[in-house]
Amino acid sequence: MNEQTPPSKLEQLEQRKRESELGGGQARIDRQHNEGKLTARERIALLFDPGSFQELDQLVVHNCHDFGLENQRVPGDGVVTGYGNIRGRLVYAFAQDFTVFGGSLSEAYATKIVKIMDLAMRNGAPLVGLNDSGGARIQEGVMSLAGYADIFLRNTLASGVIPQISAVMGPCAGGAVYSPAITDFILMVKKTSYMFVTGPDVIKTVTHEEVTKEKLGGAETHNQISGVAQFAADNDEDCLATIRELLSYMPANNMEEAPRIATKDDINRVDANLDTFIPVNANQPYEMRDLIRTLADEGHFLEVHQDYARNIVVGFVRLNGYSVGVVANQPAFLAGVLDINASRKGARFVRFCDAFNIPLLVLEDVPGFLPGTDQEYGGIILHGAKLLFALAEATVPKVTVITRKAYGGAYCVMNSKHIRADMNYAYPTAEIAVMGAEGAVNILYRHSGKDRQKKIDEYREKFANPYIAAERGYVDEIIEPRFTRRKLITAFAMLRNKRDKNPPKKHGNIPL
Ligand code: HXC
Repeated sequence: MNEQTPPSKLEQLEQRKRESELGGGQARIDRQHNEGKLTARERIALLFDPGSFQELDQLVVHNCHDFGLENQRVPGDGVVTGYGNIRGRLVYAFAQDFTVFGGSLSEAYATKIVKIMDLAMRNGAPLVGLNDSGGARIQEGVMSLAGYADIFLRNTLASGVIPQISAVMGPCAGGAVYSPAITDFILMVKKTSYMFVTGPDVIKTVTHEEVTKEKLGGAETHNQISGVAQFAADNDEDCLATIRELLSYMPANNMEEAPRIATKDDINRVDANLDTFIPVNANQPYEMRDLIRTLADEGHFLEVHQDYARNIVVGFVRLNGYSVGVVANQPAFLAGVLDINASRKGARFVRFCDAFNIPLLVLEDVPGFLPGTDQEYGGIILHGAKLLFALAEATVPKVTVITRKAYGGAYCVMNSKHIRADMNYAYPTAEIAVMGAEGAVNILYRHSGKDRQKKIDEYREKFANPYIAAERGYVDEIIEPRFTRRKLITAFAMLRNKRDKNPPKKHGNIPL
């Protein structure tokens, strides 16, 4: 008799692991691929340094006995969790597996995520979430809601302690969007990812509004209109590569400094073109990102939120290898004016940098706050104050360069000396005043139409320069633009051991 040998212990383990790796089965994996998406495990493989990922809880199964789920148990239960290295540094991650019940979250699945969140907090390392989920697992009812709430609490407590990055890499609804919303950065993938609290079908039922999921919550919508997401990647590979790069600018936690990446770029590099870079005509736009790139190591700028509120530019550069967060007005878009969205965008970025010890560079060319009923009704007073509050409370090294306009309240807001900026530079082209010459004359000489042009010229001559601010010490130095890189590197080196703190309090009350 030819008796079959029972599988060895090792074979049994392999069998269970294979089952887990197959997730919701080959047909669903094929569907995922046909839609241009990678599977959870393929994503993890690209996110981490090769061979470094250590999976946990691969054999966890759900505990639901309703709606036939008792007969459908996939080891791992639809989420891959664990830790590994990204560019040699420890990072924790979870990747939701859409092939298993649409990546929906069960009690057991939430427990897996909670476990690595707790590990990430205890060990002070970033957490990356790759989201691809239909939200709470409908069959589990309140247990899945409880699981989400457990995650939200940890997201909140981890905020400002470890960096948290969320990629949205599929259709994400309900709880699957609220956890990312609490984290520091959201990346989406064009054409394959969606975020909404409720989808098009529910909207149609409730409000009779018809909208496609792309228009409602696609990558473009959230990067350009709502501002919910900060990056729109071309595909999964691009998204994962961006996460790897983004992490390189951050420390592992709020008690550390961001890693220094040695540069071959000369710290004394002089760029003579900068002396004529700012147009003489104050109404002529220029591309602020060109200036940022000129100053940065190897000309490299990782722009954050690039499609939203384009009148302000934020992102990361390195100066002499050190990570620096840049906040810059953009004269090439709406003249660089500050409005509600620009203030929100700037404030959020500033708070991230301050929480994680990343020095701030502010490049200023701002005609003021945007006037008008739209802005006033929308609450520009409240939202504009966000940027003011964020920059004022920040205790990291803060350096400002006024390239051209610094008018009105925007002068105060954009990292002025008065709100604790450490070094304030101005170019000779700087104009620092309460308002532009024409506006000022219109108010001061409202009842006398005589000699209007002469008065405008007088006001411009007197105030449209950096010298009064320099005489008061509000500007520490007026610099030749060609030396900006060297000046900044020297200033940030001088500030490296800066210690400053805010008065003891539970927390401030930023105007939300
Ligand atoms: C259980 C789910 C599921 C869910 C999807 N599936 N969502 N199973 N619970 N929440 C299953 C489907 O039944 C299907 O199973 C498989 O996943 C793939 O889903 P499809 O609908 O075929 O995919 P697609 O057409 O791409 O649509 C994806 C989707 C849609 C947009 C996410 O499935 C959807 O609208 N799902 C429900 C979303 C939702 O309302 N979730 C609850 C949110 S409330 P088979 O077996 O066919 O492969 C919530 C509470 C927390 O999350 C709130 C906290 C603030």
